[in-house]
Amino acid sequence: MTDRTAAIRKRFGELYRREASGVVSAPGRVNLIGEHTDYNDGFVLPIAIDRCTLAAFAPADGRRVNLASVQQEDAPASFDLDVDIEKGSPKWANYPKGVAAGLVAAGVELVPMDILFDSDVPIGGGLSSSASLEVSAALAMLGAAGREIDDYQLALICQKAEHEFAGTPCGIMDQAISIMARPERALLLDCRDGSSRQIPLDNPDLLVLVADTKVKHDLTDGGYAARRDQCYSAAAKLGVKMLRDADADMVSAAGDILTDKELTRARHVVSEIDRTLKAVSAMESGDYATFGELMYASHASLRDDYEVSCEELDEIVQRASQLDGVYGARMTGGGFGGCAIILASADRADDIARAITDSYTARFGHPCVIFATRAATGAVSNV
Ligand code: GLA
Repeated sequence: MTDRTAAIRKRFGELYRREASGVVSAPGRVNLIGEHTDYNDGFVLPIAIDRCTLAAFAPADGRRVNLASVQQEDAPASFDLDVDIEKGSPKWANYPKGVAAGLVAAGVELVPMDILFDSDVPIGGGLSSSASLEVSAALAMLGAAGREIDDYQLALICQKAEHEFAGTPCGIMDQAISIMARPERALLLDCRDGSSRQIPLDNPDLLVLVADTKVKHDLTDGGYAARRDQCYSAAAKLGVKMLRDADADMVSAAGDILTDKELTRARHVVSEIDRTLKAVSAMESGDYATFGELMYASHASLRDDYEVSCEELDEIVQRASQLDGVYGARMTGGGFGGCAIILASADRADDIARAITDSYTARFGHPCVIFATRAATGAVSNV
C-alpha cells in the first residue's frame, strides 16, 4: 500500500467512522501532440502522468451517495438515489454527480455509498484534474455496485458528465487517457471511432518535464467553445463532416468562403492531425529529434493560428528550445494558461528545469512549477 493509499484509508475511517471497502485511482494527463483535434474527429497522443485522484469508498445504509474531498474539506455533498440527479453546488461535486447520472442512464443500478476523494493533480492547471475526478468517481461507483463497463463507453459517460454537469464542451481525450493509459506507453487515439494503439515510450533516457505556469484557465468561459464552433462552421463550408475529412489544400483553396478565424482554426486542425501521425512514426523509430520538431511546430500553430497560447507558455517553449538536451517543447491541453511540456534527455532534466525556472522568474516575477513524469499507468480499480 502506498503512503497516499494508507492516508486516504485513514481519513476515510475518521470521516465516515468505518473502513473503506476499496480504493481506486485515476491519473491526470499531458498530451504529447494532437491538440484541439479530438472534437474534430482527429488523432491525439496523450500519456498519463504520475499524479492521480484517489477515491476511497464503501457501500452505506440508506439511499444516499455521500461525497467528500480532501481538497474541499468544507464542501461535502450528497445525492439521493431515488430522485433524478441534478447539478448544483458545491461545484466540485457536479463531476461525480454527472458521472452517477450517466451510469444510471447506462443501466447501472447504483448503491448507497460513501466516497472520499484525494487528488494530487493540480486543479484547473490543464492536467485534466476534472477527468481524473470523473474517472475515479466512476470506478468507485462501479466497484461498489459490482459492475464493469467497457473502457471507451466509460470515457463517453465521463465526457457527458463534463458537458452536462460542468458545462465544459470538451472532447474525449482526457477521459479516454485516464482510463486507457498504460505504463511506458503513449496512447494514439482515433477520436472518430475510439480505436487506439499503445505506442512504446519506454526509453529510460527520456523524460517529459511538465512546466505549470500557474496561470488559471477556465474552459467554460467561452474561448474553447468558440473555437469548437469555428471548426464546425469551417467544416460545413468545406462540405465535410468534420475537419478530420479535410486537408491542407482544401483549406488553403477555401480562403474566399471561410472567415479569417475559420481559415486559421481549420489550418491548425488539419496540420495538427498530420503532425500527430508523423510524430507517431518518429516515436516508433526512436527519432526524437523529428518528434521534437513536430512539437515546436504544434506550439507555433496553437499560438498563431489557434490562438490558445499565452506569453507564459511561449516563454517556456522559447527558453526550452535554446537548451542542450531538449528535443522539443509545446503547450499541452486546452491552453489559455496551464502547462507546457518539454521532451528532454533524462540526464539533463535538472539543468533544463533550473534554466527554465530562472528565466521564467526573471520575466514574470514568480517561478513556474516544473516536475518530471514518465508515461504512467491508467485508472486502477483496486490500489
Ligand atoms: C481540453 C479538453 C480536451 C481537448 C483539449 C485540447 O483538455 O478537455 O478534450 O480538446 O482541451 O486538445
